[in-house]
Amino acid sequence: MNTDIKINKPEPILIHKVQKTFNQGTNVEHTIEYLIQGEFVLINEFYNDGIALLEALHHYLKQKLPNKSFKDQKAYRSEYFKLSNLILLEITNQQLNAKKSPNIGWLQKLYLENNHFYLTFPQIQGLNSAWQWYKNGVSIPVLRNKLHPYYGVYFPTRYDHLILFDNWLKRYKGPKKTVIEVGVGSGVLALQMIQHGFQKVYATDINPNAIIGLIEFMGTTKLSRKIELDFGNLFGKWDKQTEMIVFNPPWLPKPHDLGSIDEAIYYDKTLFSDFFSAAKKRLLPDGKLVVIFSNLAQIANVTTEHPIEKELAEGNRFQLERCFKKSVKAGSTKTKREQKLRSLEEVELWVLTHS
Ligand SMILES: C[S@@+](CC[C@H](N)C(=O)[O-])C[C@H]1O[C@@H](n2cnc3c(N)ncnc32)[C@H](O)[C@@H]1O
Repeated sequence: MNTDIKINKPEPILIHKVQKTFNQGTNVEHTIEYLIQGEFVLINEFYNDGIALLEALHHYLKQKLPNKSFKDQKAYRSEYFKLSNLILLEITNQQLNAKKSPNIGWLQKLYLENNHFYLTFPQIQGLNSAWQWYKNGVSIPVLRNKLHPYYGVYFPTRYDHLILFDNWLKRYKGPKKTVIEVGVGSGVLALQMIQHGFQKVYATDINPNAIIGLIEFMGTTKLSRKIELDFGNLFGKWDKQTEMIVFNPPWLPKPHDLGSIDEAIYYDKTLFSDFFSAAKKRLLPDGKLVVIFSNLAQIANVTTEHPIEKELAEGNRFQLERCFKKSVKAGSTKTKREQKLRSLEEVELWVLTHS
């Protein structure tokens, strides 16, 4: 295990004292003016005052900014992001100072060394909802037990690809001694494989929180002997050959203008060629390479390229054993465009072998 693994968390705002405050008696227009000038504003009485200020900010921006085109909406979001992140909450001894604040366990878990600091209101909202998921757990149809996703770790909110994988696992008759999973996230696929009798999953992730979260989740239970983790890129330290390799990669190409990227959602130009080249060395002669994917990027017209089809056509490394597809169940979607997209969406399970 890599020992210098550093957790991802919202960075405390380093200021000595916040001059401006906002509570029920404060003038909202003046406060928004301060935000526009780039000043921090502290919510110093009740947590709900922060909610009220965010609502007022939305109201103000809706009136001020056009909201017709996609570009307008992006500009709106970026302005809201900038201004709302100047609204601060103060944290003392791992508790929010504002009265009637939610109790957010991440403050104790992630900031033990820090007894006094500030975070922005949206950061606190993010920590709060992540805490609810973690504390209450998430039921996943293919798993016996609930997942408890750690702060900052991707977890599935739609399940068609998991069902596809489960059905494949049910029929899989090959050896089940070892498997490597690249990008374990909150552990759902690894747990599915253990449920289906795999003896050992060697897993990696480039997100430190995924590794830290799973170590905590497994504790010293039997599971911790079945799933071994390494914080690292692609295969990390797992270089022994194995009978199966599993990867549920990001499904969308990284947009050009994205600053901080979410590596659970977006892949960069080299991810797939690096992955297939490394997988070639680690797959036993009769082994299977299982990749979960979707046509989401293609039907949303983000790209015409399909990284697995490209590998099969040009890579000279693997051949197709089978590809299973499953159309995605229509969820409750907001827009017509989204409904249309969803009706075309399919998740895919690619099973490749050495060519
Ligand atoms: C779509 S999520 C899948 C997570 C989990 N396996 C699941 O199916 O729910 C992709 C995961 O791969 C990880 N990841 C992305 N690029 C990676 C890389 N180069 N090496 C290792 N992990 C990576 C991300 O951090 C994320 O946890």
